[in-house]
Amino acid sequence: MSTKEKLLAYLKENRGEWVSGEFFSKKMLISRSAIWKHIRNLREEGYGIVSSPKKGYFLQHISQMVLPNEIREGLDTTVFGQRDIIYLTEIDSTNRKAKELANRGTPEGTLVISEKQTKGRGRKGRSWFSPSHDGIYISLILRPDIPPDEAPKISLLTAVTVAETLLSLTPLDVKIKWPNDILINEKKVAGILTEISTELDVINHVVVGLGLNVNTQNFPEDIFKRATSVYMETGERFSRVKIIREYLKQIEKYYDLFTKRGIAPVIKRWNELTHMIGRRVMVEVVGNKHVGKAQGLDADGFLILKDDRGRTHRIISGDVTLM
Ligand code: BTN
Repeated sequence: MSTKEKLLAYLKENRGEWVSGEFFSKKMLISRSAIWKHIRNLREEGYGIVSSPKKGYFLQHISQMVLPNEIREGLDTTVFGQRDIIYLTEIDSTNRKAKELANRGTPEGTLVISEKQTKGRGRKGRSWFSPSHDGIYISLILRPDIPPDEAPKISLLTAVTVAETLLSLTPLDVKIKWPNDILINEKKVAGILTEISTELDVINHVVVGLGLNVNTQNFPEDIFKRATSVYMETGERFSRVKIIREYLKQIEKYYDLFTKRGIAPVIKRWNELTHMIGRRVMVEVVGNKHVGKAQGLDADGFLILKDDRGRTHRIISGDVTLM
């Protein structure tokens, strides 16, 4: 623990009480001016700390930023988020940064988190609206021992994970839309961008990027009708740190399950969580359009669609519209 972290730990332990400067000086063997410097840094990180010349310091509220130390506190995982969390206040894209790190050998389980993205990327070259401090923009580096053509399974697994996360922390009815959009009341609350790097038919790394609209109160006009946030659906602000912790716990659990028992348990849960089964949909697959009833995912993670002539299509990737 660094001195600043120790100081914060003492303030948290004594929540609701004043802690004197003398107490810190004695416990940590540092000068009053050093304490003051750390307090100033903590305030810059968003901690509400009041000070009084007579009484010392008082922790009013913890930071609302997605700081690595806050995420790690009470994080119930073995690997994910336990080691490296790269925290940024601003970046073009956390996926781009995570790929750069993964190419340099950064280990599995490393996270890149930013408070804001200036060029957040979505699927199919789209962009991802990433306003400061409102949403979760996070990329996770994985190094799964699977053939490259199985990589889409990681996206399915992440979609299940995100849905489970929101179901466990909010009262919302969360649904998955193929392949990996997360919806509430038919509007998109989260998206997943999985990018893979391969070499001679072996996966080097997979970067799983998640964009989740948490406390967003407004969207640009072009996406307003299709997008939503947890705040807009509940009227409540949610702690992004708590959501990230739960997401890491769930994704580690499903990733473990996938590596040990294959994709079957994930597919079963995906089919339970989708709102598409039995509905009429149009799927656009490079240059082709299929219209029919969605049947759910098969054992390999392909979307099964029965068209109007009774023919069955197995689709691995594309864009779907509910009709
Ligand atoms: C989609 O199009 O639905 C996928 C959106 C994925 C957005 C996230 S935000 C964090 C990560 N970094 C990016 O640049 N994109 C992903």
